[in-house]
Amino acid sequence: MSIARAHSNIALIKYWGKRHEVLKLPTNGSLSLTLDALYTDTRVSYRADLTQDQLVLNGAPAPEAMRLRVSRFLDLLRQTHGYSAYAEVVSANSFPTGAGLASSASAFAALTLAATAAAGLQLSPRQLSQLARQGSGSACRSIFGGFAEWLPGTADADASSYAEGLKTELPVWMAVLVLNQGHKATGSGDGMARTVATSPLYSVWPATASADLQALKAALAAGDLAAVGELMEHNALAMHATALAARPPVIYWQPETLALIQHVQQLRSAGHACWFTIDAGPNIKVLLPAGAEATLQALRSHPAVQQVFCCSTGPAAHLNPAEPLV
Ligand code: DP6
Repeated sequence: MSIARAHSNIALIKYWGKRHEVLKLPTNGSLSLTLDALYTDTRVSYRADLTQDQLVLNGAPAPEAMRLRVSRFLDLLRQTHGYSAYAEVVSANSFPTGAGLASSASAFAALTLAATAAAGLQLSPRQLSQLARQGSGSACRSIFGGFAEWLPGTADADASSYAEGLKTELPVWMAVLVLNQGHKATGSGDGMARTVATSPLYSVWPATASADLQALKAALAAGDLAAVGELMEHNALAMHATALAARPPVIYWQPETLALIQHVQQLRSAGHACWFTIDAGPNIKVLLPAGAEATLQALRSHPAVQQVFCCSTGPAAHLNPAEPLV
């Protein structure tokens, strides 16, 4: 039996599109920040008496579609490493479900570490990252703490695509602003697949994302938070532009999303250092200097904000977490 904790991550440069659906090999490189406050704890026990994998999520049996996705991923581990027992998987998130934060990144990173450790395997962070990627692409970055870069790799070579931790440290906060929400968004996997298949704007995405990634790495190395923030915003808007032009369109924004974009821009005009990014849902994530309490307060004060998770840089995925949730 093993218990692992993995923290979720938010991409500053987005992963948006696969060149290989099954292996989850991405079209472009991406770069993220791992967050301390949002994490998943997962316990895996292999049991000879089981006739299929079991999944309990936040105290209740998981929906069948989710159990199957986890079971298919466990099949991959069993095939790769030559064992056959089914697993009891018990998982819980540090953040409330139904708030649009359910992160497959922290979930598959924690599952990869717990499932391989419970099988007696000691894998390197790179090996873990390569495996986690096949559960959910963004999970490969949650193996690492701090800033992480996901290398797209070459051709169809599974072993060539994994994340690496970056040495850079920048004292930042990421404020996750949970907004009033109308309806459930299209999942990220489906949203990116439809964008790749039908959006006329997608052809410019790989080069745009690569250029943004190189520029953002340079800005990080220089410790230039304003340049990092500006590039992060640009990249998120470019990603959403490709999605908006899909057929049918992939629209993740709600009216409150645009209201918060304008709120961030107005705060910036008033002298607050803060920049937004948006993923496959209506919530807004804001990058700001660590300790900027007044800016955090100003962000929180907008009437569309239901809940705020203020996160610092989080650690790498690890075994035996303190006060486990499972
Ligand atoms: C918009 O990793 O959830 O958050 O590989 O299909 O499981 P799958 O997709 P997923 O996509 C994340 C998309 C994103 C951008 C990012 O995290 O880089």
